[in-house]
Amino acid sequence: MPSRLPLALLLALLPAGSAVAAQSPPAPDAQANSASARGETLYLQRCAACHDHPHDRIPPRLLLGLRSPNAVVQALTHGSMRPMAAGLSADDLAALATFLTGRAPGEEPVPSANHCAKPGAPVTVGAGDWPVIGQDIGGSRFQSDPGLAAADLPRLSLKWAFAYPGGASGPVQVAGGRVFLASGNGQVHALDARSGCGYWTFDTGRTVRAVAVAALAAERGANDRAGVFFGDDQGVVTALDATSGALLWKTQVETHPLARITAPPAVAGGRVFVPVSGMEDPLTHDPGYACCTHRGSVVALDAQSGKVLWKSYTVEEEPKPLPKTDKEGVQHFGPAGGSIFTPLGIDTRRGVVYAATAEAYGPENPPGTYSVIAFDAKTGAHRWERQFMPAQKDRARICHEAGESDCRNLFSMSTQVMVHTLPDGRDILYAGSKWGWIYALDPDAGGEVLWQRKVGEGGDLGGIMYGPSADTHALYVPVADTIVLPPKRAGGLAALDLATGKVRWRLESEPALCSWQPGAPARCENVNACDCSSAKAAATTAIPGAVFAGGWDGHVRAYAAGDGRLLWDVDTALPHAAVNGIEARGGQVGGYPVVVSHGAIYITSGASAMGRPGNALLVYGIE
Ligand code: HEC
Repeated sequence: MPSRLPLALLLALLPAGSAVAAQSPPAPDAQANSASARGETLYLQRCAACHDHPHDRIPPRLLLGLRSPNAVVQALTHGSMRPMAAGLSADDLAALATFLTGRAPGEEPVPSANHCAKPGAPVTVGAGDWPVIGQDIGGSRFQSDPGLAAADLPRLSLKWAFAYPGGASGPVQVAGGRVFLASGNGQVHALDARSGCGYWTFDTGRTVRAVAVAALAAERGANDRAGVFFGDDQGVVTALDATSGALLWKTQVETHPLARITAPPAVAGGRVFVPVSGMEDPLTHDPGYACCTHRGSVVALDAQSGKVLWKSYTVEEEPKPLPKTDKEGVQHFGPAGGSIFTPLGIDTRRGVVYAATAEAYGPENPPGTYSVIAFDAKTGAHRWERQFMPAQKDRARICHEAGESDCRNLFSMSTQVMVHTLPDGRDILYAGSKWGWIYALDPDAGGEVLWQRKVGEGGDLGGIMYGPSADTHALYVPVADTIVLPPKRAGGLAALDLATGKVRWRLESEPALCSWQPGAPARCENVNACDCSSAKAAATTAIPGAVFAGGWDGHVRAYAAGDGRLLWDVDTALPHAAVNGIEARGGQVGGYPVVVSHGAIYITSGASAMGRPGNALLVYGIE
């Protein structure tokens, strides 16, 4: 490791100091002006320690530079990089953005408002909509009523495109003839599903990734008024009226300075369940940092009032000062960790909310980390929890085999917990890990493992990310495995029998076809040196007869559900004129699923902190 500024200093709100790291990477463009030179100095002081040494979720500098300058400023002022930019002035931030992207924040094209001519009808959630990230609250990502057939897929054409202002942030949800989404500049938008015109825009002033649309009232009735619910990077949950965009309520659910909400809330029975994660993980390696005090949690709110009904931590024990200080005399704390980065699964039959949790911070692996936890939906009590960690004696070998630089993160649970009903009426849960295992659990036996199967190598940005989908035949599991050495291939797709986990078919990823990098190698062996990989690091989506999978090469492909035959392939990284007057151009398709609703296919491309950024919402249909 090169010499670097202790990261704890960054958090101590120090103003930009005088020390400059010895290393001096070349400026991105030959005409570095003075803002850019200032930006470089700040970058070396504040950012290079992480972004010049990317691992896990830290994106390489190459990819930061492909963002819009405003998106960089947004991340530093309102987003996840807020703590890293503490004490910097607006000029400093502009200088950093100019250095990284080669453009000043003011130089970006401004999208038009694109207002709809008439006010829209009141929004309620109905059949064929896709109101929540998992399609249903159990997270099947199966659209049983897609409005088109698998046989129609080869005839799809682009209907309209929207350019997310400030870059794509998260997926769309579709309800009541409208499309809801959050954009990189901190806005939430409601668009017309047919034409893409805009009904309303709400400025959050925060970074929001994904929204959920659901009825506000617990009971269905004549007035099933829908709300739009979302969390942000500062631990606040907001509810808007889906029809008008008016603010209904705002509730701070976590005050830890490194807390944030990355996944959308789940809404059921008039309650909003919020998964809370944190940004403490990149600091755990820093000897000067008082590691660690952040714990993941689930917070339940009343959907109409926003009142907190309960809050329950993943790691139940409160962090306390640890007996030992490190050699720099810093007091450490624990237990900590167990962030929830993925959406929650809701089990209405049992009154349970399921969460998949990530790594522990610190030397111990306390209960609640690397786990699936069943929270009682009424009280928040842990009904049961199950940790997915190999025995201590095997860990080092497993991490070495996976090529994992940081052994802790490898065992994080990394998918939404899916609640599924088998054809014989039994319920079953599915959850996956970054190590590449998919587990089937019995919800009535404390999460006992019914079967488990390893479908990926696992590793940095590897294994199973975000989650599978399931129809009545199979579980379609995307495999990320972004960085693998030949002869292994990046990622792929596995169709498993729902009841037994037997492999029905398994596809290797196609050679990567990144239009931004012609002649790219078929495999990305080092994501820090190239950003072209065919890893499938997005949740899959199923419709009767077909399954959609997004690729890190910017392609979305649809395969026959029965045998994995390729049915459709679209390159989302090509430019398109967008309805809001600027160019829509995608990047990596990662994280979020393709959304299918009322005969249209909605693809969000370039929404990921880790991959090649983009700003495209592309909507395909027939005729
Ligand atoms: C302690 C490590 C660390 C430091 C220091 C750091 N970053 Fe980051 N950065 C990260 C991680 C981790 C992520 C991925 C965040 C996520 O998971 O959303 C990230 C993401 C980003 C993103 C994308 C954010 C988004 O919301 O999509 C930008 C832009 C960024 N960093 C810029 C910077 C700049 C500029 C600096 C210096 C002022 C900096 N970072 C300092 C660790 C760091």
